[in-house]
Amino acid sequence: MAISHHVSSYLDLLLGDLDEVRVMVDATLGNGHDALKLKKRFPEAMLYGFDVQKAALEASTRRLNRQGITTGFEFFLQSHENIGEVVRRPIDLCLFNLGYLPGGDKGRHTAYDTTVKAVTGALAELSPRGLILLTLYPGSLRGRIETILLEDHFKGLDQKAVTVMRIQPLNQKNDPPYLILLRKNSG
Ligand SMILES: C[S@@+](CC[C@H](N)C(=O)[O-])C[C@H]1O[C@@H](n2cnc3c(N)ncnc32)[C@H](O)[C@@H]1O
Repeated sequence: MAISHHVSSYLDLLLGDLDEVRVMVDATLGNGHDALKLKKRFPEAMLYGFDVQKAALEASTRRLNRQGITTGFEFFLQSHENIGEVVRRPIDLCLFNLGYLPGGDKGRHTAYDTTVKAVTGALAELSPRGLILLTLYPGSLRGRIETILLEDHFKGLDQKAVTVMRIQPLNQKNDPPYLILLRKNSG
């Protein structure tokens, strides 16, 4: 796989290394690019998707349908805060692509309070080999605030229980997006 400078190519790299994914969550459906990526990579896995905008659910459904994917997913028009209560199955993979819907309402930006609740809920439901991946956008004011608060929260997680890693470009200008990975430590 060719690795470009873009953060999503590192996401592809990480997804390429996973196996035995049965339940996956796209916590921020947006325009459905990530949802399609997940279903292409793990066609047999069930995908649960969340977004607070109807337009996002519609765009994501359309994107999957256009590729002939009409089953194996369920989308919820509600905040990802409720992941833990809605997805009552062990989660193998959970993506958060934070920020706002490109081409949509910039006011519906993800926010620390709800994101941290969602990540906590997803962690509680995470399968032993499960992985949570977040793309953070520190380049805008709202994104920066969310990033700083989330990082503070992640730094405070018990290292015996959870491993938190960061994949971040160090030599790109203008605070580019980067990835955070969370994994439960077994035993
Ligand atoms: C950067 S976009 C996601 C990009 C998307 N994954 C894609 O592939 O196109 C962020 C999305 O998060 C959604 N969002 C904001 N707050 C949310 C919340 N509390 N729960 C779920 N989704 C939320 C926005 O509506 C927006 O569609």
